[in-house]
Amino acid sequence: MRIDIFTLFPEMFDGPFSQSIVKRARDKGIVSLFIHNFRDYATDKHKTVDDYSYGGGPGMVLKPEPLFDAVEAIRREHGGEEELVSTVLLSPQGRLFRQKTALELARKEHLVLICGHYEGVDERVREHLVSDELSIGDYVLSGGEIAAMVVVDAVVRVLPGALGSAESAIDESHAAGLLEYPQYTRPPVFRGWSVPEVLLSGNHQEILRWRRRESLRRTREMRPDLIKEAILSQEEVSSLEAVGGLGSAESMVE
Ligand code: ADE
Repeated sequence: MRIDIFTLFPEMFDGPFSQSIVKRARDKGIVSLFIHNFRDYATDKHKTVDDYSYGGGPGMVLKPEPLFDAVEAIRREHGGEEELVSTVLLSPQGRLFRQKTALELARKEHLVLICGHYEGVDERVREHLVSDELSIGDYVLSGGEIAAMVVVDAVVRVLPGALGSAESAIDESHAAGLLEYPQYTRPPVFRGWSVPEVLLSGNHQEILRWRRRESLRRTREMRPDLIKEAILSQEEVSSLEAVGGLGSAESMVE
């Protein structure tokens, strides 16, 4: 996969992309990452990338020309089939980025990420340049850079071969629409706090059942909104209903 990121602050990406799983995926050739400063595409001598908002109001707006020129130059050089390229604007107005969005983007060959800044981005960028707009959560960051790092990290780690054989994306939180079950390692007793007996029992069937139950309990407590979309067995729906954990029986039954 190729990922091009357009930003006014390229140095911000140095650390996160040269560590851990993203670094390893780059080293293995699973992903190629390119960071571009779209100020380089401004044509006037002051390298202007923003201007006042038509109609008035505080704050500056990112101009369309440098962004269109920058993104179109990369597309011309590295164009692919349209359905295998995604051009994404990161902004608090976008659709919410979730694990399933990461899996969706991981199927593309080429991602182009645009980091917004200042008060906003000229609406024509939204209308005519990008194919998608993503937000990483309901809060406002100073710019799209940290959001782009989040998206890249979540996408790269689900690319085939990015995780080592000891790591797995299958069991983790959100993979099946639920939060992950509690995990323990040695020692079996730490400061008087014991590891649940069942995990030391060696009974795989029981361990699987316990983990599933804990996963459901944790999701119900921390993220009841996820329970509504999770795929549950009829028995699980009944037991959640018994403790009042299912708002309305909207969950899908296997
Ligand atoms: N830019 C500013 N806030 C953002 C957010 N929550 N998600 C994505 N991009 C952003």
